[in-house]
Amino acid sequence: MTASSKAAITARLADARRRTLGLVEQLDDEQLNRVYSPILSPLAWDLGHIANFEELWLVQTIGEQEPLDGELGHFYDAIENPRRTRGELPILRDAELRSYMADVRERALAVLETVEIGSDVEDPLLREGFVYEMLLAHELQHQETMLQLLEMLDDYEAPWPMGTVPATASGMLRIEAGAYEIGATDNGFAYDNERPRHEVELAAFEIDRTPVSNGAYAEFMEVSGGEAPMYWGREGGEWVSTAMGRRQPLAPDHPVTHVSWDQADAYASWAGKRLPTELEWEAAAERLDSVGQVWEWTSSTFRAYDGFRAFPYREYSEVFFGDAYRVLRGGSWATHPSVARRSFRNWDLPERRQIFSGIRCARDAA
Ligand SMILES: [Fe+2]
Repeated sequence: MTASSKAAITARLADARRRTLGLVEQLDDEQLNRVYSPILSPLAWDLGHIANFEELWLVQTIGEQEPLDGELGHFYDAIENPRRTRGELPILRDAELRSYMADVRERALAVLETVEIGSDVEDPLLREGFVYEMLLAHELQHQETMLQLLEMLDDYEAPWPMGTVPATASGMLRIEAGAYEIGATDNGFAYDNERPRHEVELAAFEIDRTPVSNGAYAEFMEVSGGEAPMYWGREGGEWVSTAMGRRQPLAPDHPVTHVSWDQADAYASWAGKRLPTELEWEAAAERLDSVGQVWEWTSSTFRAYDGFRAFPYREYSEVFFGDAYRVLRGGSWATHPSVARRSFRNWDLPERRQIFSGIRCARDAA
């Protein structure tokens, strides 16, 4: 690969880091270290974990160097340390945290200068710069996790425009029965769980052109006694939502956000519809409106595609396969556009609502 593509990687890494730091610029160390919720890490953990993941892959694995601090890897391992315990760990904080992030970056860039990352390189981690794409995606994905927590802060000023926009289309889209290509091709960056690309046969179905709105969800609650999304409250007979410490009347034409899978499923049944399978979602994705506003719950549990091979580590996908997790598709307003591929599979527990999750309904075609 040419020097200019190394320069491009360097620039993209710098850009992602500017965005990460931009999110926490206005916060003091006490806010970075504070545990706001047992289901979310303190922001200092996310920051250290982003840098530690970079050290593990770009410095230790690719650069074959010893870790800067041999113990750190344990504290930043997402599987070893459930979120509720992360505030108690002896993680890096304050000035030490910032200097670790800068040290790792300096070393990672020095390693980048020494490696070959072309399309004919034998090491699959380096081929087409895979490991650098993975690192970029990882940091960008953590920004969304950090935003889940930043929403809980009392006086957070969003550093750039944030939130959903109103949906414009209405009605349902008919998708004809037939064979559809699902998953990522062998070329370009994708996670292991998106591969291999394969064909599936689908029966004809219909899918909503837009995600379910706040207004429609409020009607469902009033008629059926359904449960309110996270951050909703009543004020003088009206529904309001609270984010970043500000209470605002609900915008009826924006997509409903912060609903659990159970709520999404209950809404779909009430509306005489159902959640789409993730295969239906992907088959329809090219023609869908308003994708990228909210993560859209599907009826599918998170499973390996036939022929799945874990790469580059089992803990990204494989350990989560099974019945416990439901797949979400599409991406939210907080998801960086480069992460939100059509084949990208997100997953979470069915009761979770701190994520930017919404609903799009489907039904069998008549
Ligand atoms: Fe991570």
